[in-house]
Amino acid sequence: MMFTEVEHQRNGLDLIKVDNDQAKIIFSNFGARIVSWKYEDNNIVLGNVVEADEYYHENPYYFGASVGRFGGRIEDGRFELEGKTYQLEQNDPPHHLHGGFHGINKHYFDYEIKDDNGGYIQIIFTTTVKSADDHYPGDIKLKIIHTYDIDNRWTIEYSAEATETTLFNPTNHVYFNLNRDNKEVNNHILTSSTLKMHLLNDKNLPTLNDTVDLIQVLGKQSMRFEDIGKAEDERLHAQIECYHGLDHPFTIGDELTVENSQFLLKMKTDMPHVVIFTFNETSNWESDMNIYKPHSGFTLEAQCLPNDINLLGEEAPSILRKGDTFFSKTTYQIIEKSE
Ligand code: GAL
Repeated sequence: MMFTEVEHQRNGLDLIKVDNDQAKIIFSNFGARIVSWKYEDNNIVLGNVVEADEYYHENPYYFGASVGRFGGRIEDGRFELEGKTYQLEQNDPPHHLHGGFHGINKHYFDYEIKDDNGGYIQIIFTTTVKSADDHYPGDIKLKIIHTYDIDNRWTIEYSAEATETTLFNPTNHVYFNLNRDNKEVNNHILTSSTLKMHLLNDKNLPTLNDTVDLIQVLGKQSMRFEDIGKAEDERLHAQIECYHGLDHPFTIGDELTVENSQFLLKMKTDMPHVVIFTFNETSNWESDMNIYKPHSGFTLEAQCLPNDINLLGEEAPSILRKGDTFFSKTTYQIIEKSE
């Protein structure tokens, strides 16, 4: 049996709670975000249910949020599309990050709940992203559907249409931690049939062809987060040292799994890359609600390569042409390992 319940908090923030007896997952209309995911009494993701109405307005780390219209950085906040140059907000100086100050993480989405009476529950979130707010060309009609099913699979589907040719690169910025006591995630093991890491330049921007094949360097398809920086590869050392952990786009195989001794998290996506960020800096939020230590979570952000528009121009996968319909799907499934 699955059921839902809605809690209205202050500031127009709603929590939509979905329960399948074994697990409980909570979404919010503020940023079409995931607020909590609990498997029995284990917290799988970082977030705050009790003070959600305050916490999510202040949290600068995009916890659980839908991010866009462009996930990741755009160099100097500038790009050219169809012969015109656009200047965006440089909210991560000198770059533009995660859609700027008015990104979809700040939108109050409209929503509808669809219950199929047994197998799954869907929350259909809708909003309009306006050019007048974020200075990209074109308005975008956006639908984000979060589905949770009895097999503990959380699916995110994005569909969008734009009034002008524009950029569109949405992602979800959830932080996972499969450890019981939320201690550092360095022990988590990453596995995929392809694990190519795109190195960053000294401006925190990915390069196109400068990749390290982790499977080749480490000689195996499974590796702990902490193994990556310890591998016999000077470039890996330098990157992990410079960014204090991972903050890198990866090219993965069909499926990516992350596990500890108790849980297996499976991820699948049709987006070209996954950015893995190990929550490297946690001191720049001065708040009693900031209880986080570095490496107390990691993201798996399904997306196009950050800054792809400046690397690939008119060939960039993040371009959404006027008249086209964007569709993308990502799933995360949590499985408890048998003793
Ligand atoms: C990540 C980004 C990080 C950091 C984080 C938000 O997606 O790659 O550098 O900005 O978002 O705290």
